[in-house]
Amino acid sequence: MWRIVRGGARCRRWTSLVLATFICSSVIIYSYIYFHAIRSIKIAKKLKYVQRNQTAAQPIAQPWKERVQKLTKNQRMPLLTLFTTWIDNDDKKLVHNITIVNWLSLRPFVLPIIFTNETALAKTCELAGWKTMPLRVVAADGVPVLKYMYIDAMKRYESSLYAFANGDILFTDTLIDTLAEILQDNSTSHKHTLIIGRRTNTNNITMKEVSSWKELTVVAKKRGKLFRSDAEDYFVTSASYPWHEIPDFVVGRRAYDNWLVLNARKQKHRVIDASLTILAVHQTTDDGNYESKKKETREYNHLLLLSLYESIKYNLGDCICAEYETSLRSGRIWITPRRLRKFCRLR
Ligand SMILES: *[C@@H]1O[C@H](CO)[C@@H](O)[C@H](O)[C@H]1NC(C)=O
Ligand SMILES: *[C@@H]1O[C@H](CO)[C@@H](O)[C@H](O)[C@H]1NC(C)=O
Ligand SMILES: *[C@@H]1O[C@H](CO)[C@@H](O)[C@H](O)[C@H]1NC(C)=O
Ligand SMILES: *[C@@H]1O[C@H](CO)[C@@H](O)[C@H](O)[C@H]1NC(C)=O
Ligand SMILES: *[C@@H]1O[C@H](CO)[C@@H](O)[C@H](O)[C@H]1NC(C)=O
Repeated sequence: MWRIVRGGARCRRWTSLVLATFICSSVIIYSYIYFHAIRSIKIAKKLKYVQRNQTAAQPIAQPWKERVQKLTKNQRMPLLTLFTTWIDNDDKKLVHNITIVNWLSLRPFVLPIIFTNETALAKTCELAGWKTMPLRVVAADGVPVLKYMYIDAMKRYESSLYAFANGDILFTDTLIDTLAEILQDNSTSHKHTLIIGRRTNTNNITMKEVSSWKELTVVAKKRGKLFRSDAEDYFVTSASYPWHEIPDFVVGRRAYDNWLVLNARKQKHRVIDASLTILAVHQTTDDGNYESKKKETREYNHLLLLSLYESIKYNLGDCICAEYETSLRSGRIWITPRRLRKFCRLR
């Protein structure tokens, strides 16, 4: 009797021990699976702009997963809506094809858009994986007006930042890393931000040379030349940037780049020169680096500004007059105020 009772007690104790172990391990395994599922759902949501058609666009295998995980909560994906516009032209086909492939490699951080009313061009870009939008306003014999591209892109697509870049400019992951760092920087309380930088002119870039960011970097280092600091080819602005207040400049004609920078400085926006951390490669062809000088309406923007202001000191809109600069130190990107040269003084 006694033995049976004791045996039953031991048995019951064993049963509860096994049960407890079972429940505990189930809870641990379940939580583990749950936690991972939630995490991958979160990442998948962030990656909703990853192109579904991986073969058409031939994207480059990039370490984007780690980058996505590094982003903080207040950073929206994509980080940047990047747009441009060009006219379909046989002489420039290769340059544009290379731009199409290069900008695609920046997804999901960057959403590439072309503004065009040309059906064939829109179709080519769409098939490759770009978004297309119609050109709402043109001037100077059909040249696109810059600000409406910003206004329309901001209305249509949500992202942390928006930028126009000329259609022959190529970027690498340095664009993503620099913008992510700037978005995280909370050391100033500026309402609006403008990010600009110098370009690196590089001759005869081939499709093979843009097959990876690394290769493009090597090519730019080997054959490239940093262009003058008073030429700006891309303008990254915060989502709230007051584009409606900007005059109706057309793209690809001189004067508007420097005016945008000098105006942003006067309005006390945060103006950042990212030349030291963003590689912006300009595809230089046999036309050279001063293509816009040949066009008949080349003074359109300058004349527009003269009709609005008495004098325009373009030198105040030089890259080196930006109040902030980015730099690379100890493997990190820093955004720091800059000691301005005398000729940058606003008055
Ligand atoms: C994928 O690409 C093919 C051809 O390149 C195209 O016909 C198809 O519509 C694309 N699918 C998606 C989902 O974009
Ligand atoms: C550019 O791309 C289009 C479509 O992918 C292709 O048909 C064309 O041959 C390419 N042109 C050049 C010059 O690379
Ligand atoms: C481009 O197309 C849109 C509609 O698709 C039209 O509203 C606009 O006026 C066109 N732009 C030009 C410059 O023709
Ligand atoms: C800025 O962000 C850092 C973390 O990235 C945080 O430690 C710091 O408190 C923040 N400063 C302000 C003023 O919000
Ligand atoms: C590009 O290469 C061709 C020959 O391969 C050469 O004739 C031309 O001058 C080069 N263009 C530039 C801008 O270097």
